[in-house]
Amino acid sequence: MTTATEPGRRPGRVFLVGAGPGDPDLLTVKALRLIRTAPVVVHDRLISPEILALIPPETERLFAGKECGRHYLSQDEINAALVRLAGSGLDVVRLKGGDPLVFGRGSEEAQALIEAGISFEVVPGISAAAGVSTYAGIPLTHRGLATGVRFVTGHLREDKRLELPWSRLADPDTTLAIYMGLHALPEIAAQLVAAGLDPETPAAAIENGTTPRQRRILGTLATLPGLVGAAGFRPPSLIVIGRVVSLAGTLDWFTPGGGTATP
Ligand SMILES: C[S@@+](CC[C@H](N)C(=O)[O-])C[C@H]1O[C@@H](n2cnc3c(N)ncnc32)[C@H](O)[C@@H]1O
Repeated sequence: MTTATEPGRRPGRVFLVGAGPGDPDLLTVKALRLIRTAPVVVHDRLISPEILALIPPETERLFAGKECGRHYLSQDEINAALVRLAGSGLDVVRLKGGDPLVFGRGSEEAQALIEAGISFEVVPGISAAAGVSTYAGIPLTHRGLATGVRFVTGHLREDKRLELPWSRLADPDTTLAIYMGLHALPEIAAQLVAAGLDPETPAAAIENGTTPRQRRILGTLATLPGLVGAAGFRPPSLIVIGRVVSLAGTLDWFTPGGGTATP
């Protein structure tokens, strides 16, 4: 094991912190405390402007995510930056969207920290499947409609292929919460239908969930790809497929931009 600590300095710690899906009210107490007190915050593109606004102006910020027209860091460069900052004696908040360990590469960053001899803590966050579907009025499970839920990545590999166990995913009793599935949605829908899922299965897409910019489209497996394309949805968007989506009309409680009724 190599240690990255500068001679004579006590190494800092890295806090891999989940910021939740966007609404700052969904931060954990621990996440908020760390954001307010850490000398440096390394964050990615998914962090909402409302949460970024909670970082004190004097805090050093490092933007690590991909964004049009801006430089961004590779995963190796992010790992190296965390090791370098903590090695210089700083406590570092590595702020990640949702939960750091759900499609967030937080475990890879933790492995790099272990390798460098840097101590770390993980602060769980509300993952998009839970937070975004809830703000869209969709329960992930409901008696009689879904006995389980699967979190699935719809991220296309570099060769543009999407390899998922379609026959196992095409289960009418299981809700599918699909992360990063916007671009592959036409293929996802076609593959699920080909594997036996009813094209009339209710399906939803939610863009910028839990924020004042939230948009939601309800449809079916057959109609959702066209509706989402026509509406020009962009990431971050979550796709939810399953009979539970049929409750979205009645369980609708969140008005984007209308604020929440927090006493
Ligand atoms: C790289 S994954 C990170 C997931 C994150 N670690 C989590 O636990 O939610 C990014 C994907 O999460 C989903 N996502 C995250 N925040 C979202 C939001 N506010 N609204 C809709 N989808 C969101 C989208 O599918 C997006 O493409």
